[in-house]
Amino acid sequence: MTENDVYQVSDWKGQGGERWVAYQARLDAMVAVFGEAAIEAAAPVAGERVLDIGCGAGASSRDLANRVGAGGQVVGMDISEPLIDKARALAPQHSAASFQVADASSAELPPEAFDILFSRFGVMFFDNPTAAFTHMRRALRPGGRVAFVCWRSIAENDWVSLPMGAMKGIIPPMTPPNPEAPGPFSFGDQGRVARILTAAGLTDVAITPFDASIPFGKGETRDAALDDAVKMTLEVGLLARSLVDQPDDIRVRAAVAVRTVFAGFTRERSVMIDGAAWIVTGRNPAS
Ligand SMILES: C[S@@+](CC[C@H](N)C(=O)[O-])C[C@H]1O[C@@H](n2cnc3c(N)ncnc32)[C@H](O)[C@@H]1O
Repeated sequence: MTENDVYQVSDWKGQGGERWVAYQARLDAMVAVFGEAAIEAAAPVAGERVLDIGCGAGASSRDLANRVGAGGQVVGMDISEPLIDKARALAPQHSAASFQVADASSAELPPEAFDILFSRFGVMFFDNPTAAFTHMRRALRPGGRVAFVCWRSIAENDWVSLPMGAMKGIIPPMTPPNPEAPGPFSFGDQGRVARILTAAGLTDVAITPFDASIPFGKGETRDAALDDAVKMTLEVGLLARSLVDQPDDIRVRAAVAVRTVFAGFTRERSVMIDGAAWIVTGRNPAS
């Protein structure tokens, strides 16, 4: 991966979004506990209005809608049309959640219309995060809250660093991505996150580590779970991107290497690998 190969809006709008749809149920299960922790931090109550930024297929929007109830409102916003289509299809009838295809960093947002800006892993992809949060903060009522979950660094996230290490020598050496370039790990540095939110005008910024084991593969047997984890790694996400243009023999070697490293994390019917996130909260000043 080169510095230019950062996550672009077009990735999510196109193939990235479609792959995410294909794996939606699996991905939701993998990150569910992280989303729950972020929702607890957001502490939504009945009647509140929430903007779910980069809502994807809408799992968090649905959970938030249950919390705010019929008198509340959740707007799930995402740049990916296939993901918003999926979110709409999965939303129960009469849900407090509605969905919109839009870039949250520039979409027209009603001023002071939301009590909470929320996100589960959807705020790390902005080209200019300070400008994006400044823009989104204007949609927050005075005294409103921000709560999101984002990944810590690659080095702290075994589910990426282990397979990445395993692929060394098989695929051409990766230039480490610029840690500040838009992408899943661009909020890994908590100092940077604090600076972005503060520069965007938010106060009471708190950033707390949250660790959890991620169910990376599942199956009836250990071997089946391992196969499943390898398939997942090679087909969706950062490492999948690094293999896109590689010939079949390289992909086969990469699969063997990833399988070997994952074997150490196999349980009876699953592969469980540690994930490390930040739970971030902040507040819009009262006036
Ligand atoms: C890692 S996924 C998380 C999706 C969802 N929140 C979840 O947890 O399942 C990141 C999401 O952010 C969306 N996204 C990226 N940049 C965005 C932007 N500028 N505005 C709105 N959504 C964006 C992507 O399309 C993608 O659905």
